[in-house]
Amino acid sequence: MGRYTDNPNAIAALVRGGEVHRDVYIDEELYRLEMRHLFANTWVFVGHDSQTPNKGDYYTTQIGDQPVIMVRHTDNEIKVLYNRCPHKGTKIAIDRTGNTGKFFRCPYHAWSFKTDGCLLAIPLKKGYQDTGFDDSNAKPGMRAVGAVKNYRGFVFARLAEDGISFEDFFNGSLTSFDNMVDRSPAGRLEVAGPPLRYMHQCNWKMLVENQTDTCHPMVAHESSAGTAVQIWKEMGYTEDDPKPPAMEIIAPFMSPYEFFEDMGIRTWPNGHGHTGVHHSIHSKYSEIPGYMEAMHAAYGPERTQGILAENRHNTVYFPNIMIKGPIQQLRNFIPLGPNRTLVESWIYRLVDAPDELLARTAMYNRMINAPTSIVGHDDLEMYERAQEGLHASGNDWVNVQRLYPGPEDFSAEQVENGTTERQMRNQFDAWVRFMTADMPGASAAMQEAAE
Ligand SMILES: [Fe+2]
Repeated sequence: MGRYTDNPNAIAALVRGGEVHRDVYIDEELYRLEMRHLFANTWVFVGHDSQTPNKGDYYTTQIGDQPVIMVRHTDNEIKVLYNRCPHKGTKIAIDRTGNTGKFFRCPYHAWSFKTDGCLLAIPLKKGYQDTGFDDSNAKPGMRAVGAVKNYRGFVFARLAEDGISFEDFFNGSLTSFDNMVDRSPAGRLEVAGPPLRYMHQCNWKMLVENQTDTCHPMVAHESSAGTAVQIWKEMGYTEDDPKPPAMEIIAPFMSPYEFFEDMGIRTWPNGHGHTGVHHSIHSKYSEIPGYMEAMHAAYGPERTQGILAENRHNTVYFPNIMIKGPIQQLRNFIPLGPNRTLVESWIYRLVDAPDELLARTAMYNRMINAPTSIVGHDDLEMYERAQEGLHASGNDWVNVQRLYPGPEDFSAEQVENGTTERQMRNQFDAWVRFMTADMPGASAAMQEAAE
């Protein structure tokens, strides 16, 4: 037990206005506390329900460091269970995905469980007669997590039995999910294959912060996007010439500071926020033949216009995912240690929309997010340099002070200049509250905020 365990005041002292202590990125104890508290008390993304379309279909992943199984139960509902046999602790499912039929069966002693986790059968059951087994911790079977919510196909879970409700946690931020799903004429998304997986040797929070960092693209991505734009000009084309899809995607990364200032940043309570309030790097993509017609048929012209006028750039859902509504992507930043993060980059098909839309989404994923991309590596190098540089002595603090107006209130939705670091400060405000919400001695104010 170190200095931060059960010490909410020491944790709160790590965040002070425009500065954050470097321990939040590099300290082993804080990382373990994030797993125990932050990832247990918040609503964490698990998967999309189209990954498990049929009864018995399952998908294994983790919430913080907890291994879980998302499974479609016999009543068609999605359940999220801890991936652990109540007998000896054996992991029940090892494959990422599969169909278990009507029940799970432990490979060690063949205890079996319904797909909601209830104990179904034990071989040689008479051996438990008159042993008090009904009162044991094994009798309830595989344990379900504290709470599960399927929001328009996106499945979230809260590990803690008690805590903030899904609606109170996300409040107005769900409009970004709504916009992404509404872009399907059928109002439905389907996962398009497994995600791209990409290991990063840095703290997971660096990736989350980068999603609303609008002052780095024209600098860090100059070597990739800048080169593409330069070659485009050398070929004799101008800014306004029609571009092939790859150029449409990469050129906006070189937009000037004013473009990002004007786009705006919106923050919501509990650490959520998005860039691209007024416009974004996705605003000027060319029309896909047939799409507008399908949208008009489904929604009528006025509502279609409302849906497609919204071109949010990156929406951060605290603690650890980001979505891009206009191109149907979700990136999951899965912590594997204080200096190790697995990024999963998922793409989705708009049901009843032309295939060209999915082709553009897939191209974006390959070009920008993949291990083979030309843009994602720029960011990765910055994260890894920061992870190393933070061990340097002489300064214990990281600066998040851009457009800091003095003590801030994050309890209401707010729109600001698109280059503010307010969203990063919003994340750390939420970080302190949810890290300490269930610690003994947490202030009454913190408890209240998390309820
Ligand atoms: Fe970047």
